[in-house]
Amino acid sequence: MPSGDALRVGVVGTGVFGRNHVRIYRDLQSDGAQRVQLVGVVDADFARAQAVAGEFGTQAFRSVDELLAADAQAASVAVPTLAHLTVARQLMQNGVDVLIEKPLAATVAEADELIYLAEKHGRIAQTGHLERFNPAVRATLPLLTQPMFFEVHRLSVFSQRSLDVDVILDLMIHDIDIVLTFAKSAVKEVRAVGLPILSAKTDIANVRMEFESGAVANFTASRVSTERVRKLRFFQPRQYVSLDYSRQDVLVLTVDPLAPDQADLDPFDPASVAASALPGITPFKPAIEPQEPLRAELSSFLQGVRQRSTPEVTLEDGRRALAVATQIVEAIAEHSHRVRLPELTRAES
Ligand SMILES: NC(=O)c1ccc[n+]([C@@H]2O[C@H](COP(=O)([O-])OP(=O)(O)OC[C@H]3O[C@@H](n4cnc5c(N)ncnc54)[C@H](O)[C@@H]3O)[C@@H](O)[C@H]2O)c1
Repeated sequence: MPSGDALRVGVVGTGVFGRNHVRIYRDLQSDGAQRVQLVGVVDADFARAQAVAGEFGTQAFRSVDELLAADAQAASVAVPTLAHLTVARQLMQNGVDVLIEKPLAATVAEADELIYLAEKHGRIAQTGHLERFNPAVRATLPLLTQPMFFEVHRLSVFSQRSLDVDVILDLMIHDIDIVLTFAKSAVKEVRAVGLPILSAKTDIANVRMEFESGAVANFTASRVSTERVRKLRFFQPRQYVSLDYSRQDVLVLTVDPLAPDQADLDPFDPASVAASALPGITPFKPAIEPQEPLRAELSSFLQGVRQRSTPEVTLEDGRRALAVATQIVEAIAEHSHRVRLPELTRAES
């Protein structure tokens, strides 16, 4: 049971992903560690709110007004992206702290408004880039030296979900945020190709991104694949790092420095090369404690709300990823136009 000073939380949007937020808040309430009380859930489809509320033993509300009347202090915003601003604005204006699902908003202007509102109303506001809480990503952070070349694949089978946005805002945005975090450099240039396959918007895309540091990242994202893949690999001096988000697994291959007696090796003399031992490669797997990223994310959000501290993933981080995603969408539109693909309007892409 939650204690008297339990944080009163709610979830707005109880679709496929919002239901996960409800499940985790309910778990956190049960295990007592976070002193949280799930006061209720809201969905524009009241029957859906009722079904999820019934499943997790909480109240169903018809509107954000009803959630506010129940004295919610913090809430997850898990409505479709196009509705993030409207819902989060109402919550923040009424003193509620928010965790806003990714992508932060549909446009950079909307993201700016969210940042302005959070500042104006003194709200703790976090963007739901949950891969930041993936233990494989966390285990990779201390390994970073000078990543120069990233290769990223995020492939999903087709579903009817998140079709209000394209695959860049739906899937690639996760990796954009992670690569920007790893590369620690501004984006210099973006080249991209993308195609609508089963929906009216871009369903598959390939992007080449160059950073001011000289690093390069290649991203492939698809929501029309026959398999599910979530992989990020990168090279840095003498090292290859392979991260599997789904398996929460990291493999590091390090090339051993040349032995001192190889200093005389003449690389243009086949006999000299053959006579020498080639540098060895040492594999290493950091110890990783598996954890559901969403649980870590929501726990971190609640802690930030309690302590009034800056969230681990800020709205500015969400805006940063969205701005790059927007650049990619524009590069895809430019490419489609240049090679005379059937036109995707700005609103559709
Ligand atoms: N972090 C992740 O890995 C991840 C994964 C999937 C989805 N998401 C994000 O979560 C959000 C929801 O995605 P989903 O897949 O659950 O979508 P969904 O379509 O399954 O659910 C959205 C729900 O919101 C409700 N809704 C729509 N407008 C509303 C409003 N104004 N007020 C209240 N309820 C409203 C709908 O009735 C629906 O039940 C999106 O922003 C999506 O990008 C994040």
